[in-house]
Amino acid sequence: MVRKIGVLTSGGDAPGMNAAIRAVTRVALANGVDVVGIRDGFKGLIEKKFETFNKKSVSEIIGRGGTKLGSARFPEFKEEEIQDKAIENLREENIDALVVIGGDGTYRGALSLTNKGINCVGIPATIDNDVAGTDFTIGFNTALETCVENVDKLRDTSSSHNRCSVVEVMGNRCGDLAVYTAINCGAEIVVSPETGYDELDILERIRYLGKAVKKNHAIVIISEKITDVDALARKISQHTNFSGRATVLGHIQRGGSPSPYDRMLASQMGEFAVDLLMAGKGGQCVCIKQNEIIGIPIEEALKLPKPSRKHLYRLFDRLI
Ligand code: F6P
Repeated sequence: MVRKIGVLTSGGDAPGMNAAIRAVTRVALANGVDVVGIRDGFKGLIEKKFETFNKKSVSEIIGRGGTKLGSARFPEFKEEEIQDKAIENLREENIDALVVIGGDGTYRGALSLTNKGINCVGIPATIDNDVAGTDFTIGFNTALETCVENVDKLRDTSSSHNRCSVVEVMGNRCGDLAVYTAINCGAEIVVSPETGYDELDILERIRYLGKAVKKNHAIVIISEKITDVDALARKISQHTNFSGRATVLGHIQRGGSPSPYDRMLASQMGEFAVDLLMAGKGGQCVCIKQNEIIGIPIEEALKLPKPSRKHLYRLFDRLI
């Protein structure tokens, strides 16, 4: 029987985490289950940063970016003794089950705690959309809106100055933010972990856009961690008839009020996570698959291959 659940957010923050915290809290309380908010992710479990939540604790946060609970990257949580300490602290606080909100790393922590006797359920939240098993993660839609809004602005200025804008977006080795932004903004070139990086080919294509297609501007969307975008912009200036300029969107992509899509997804996933725990299920993660909210074992999710985005790159190629 579940009498008290804990909730924490871990890894990089994502817009919509607050909406998920709110849903977990309100659904649990509506079912007569007590709720404890744990600050600063798994680190807070070790440091006993516990706060009893009531309905009001999560008032006015549904539209706020970031996470009310704070988040932290805590690689030490891989260590057995640290996990044992977390279990000890959870038992001391009479927490029977836990909802963890974050990415794959967060899921691994959740699985370890479940295997040690405290049922945990994972909710996928990261702007990268790189969590196995789910079509979308909480935060991706809002980050995409931020990217699109900013690239649209860059297009205004680059088309006024015969420039080529190289825009670096986040993604942590996943190209989803890049390819979705590129399609939504009508970019000329997209470069991501999925496309690979061929500098000569990129320069050749930009030259062609200027000379043969007579474009007065071009937008290149490129995933982070692929190349130095300032250096690429300089090469564009040297080897094409465009003047190159680089923009790194950076952490702007992680902030802002969550979109209605993310609020809805977070609310539904939060509800589903509590229902799973109340049904005595642990070691599961919540997913949205073809518009349906489902739960699958974390162990299974972590083994799934990265979904193919070939159809999106083909669409991009057909639209340029
Ligand atoms: O996972 C979210 C993310 O924003 C990635 O896109 C990025 O690579 C990373 O986190 C940046 O991490 P930090 O905020 O710790 O620099």
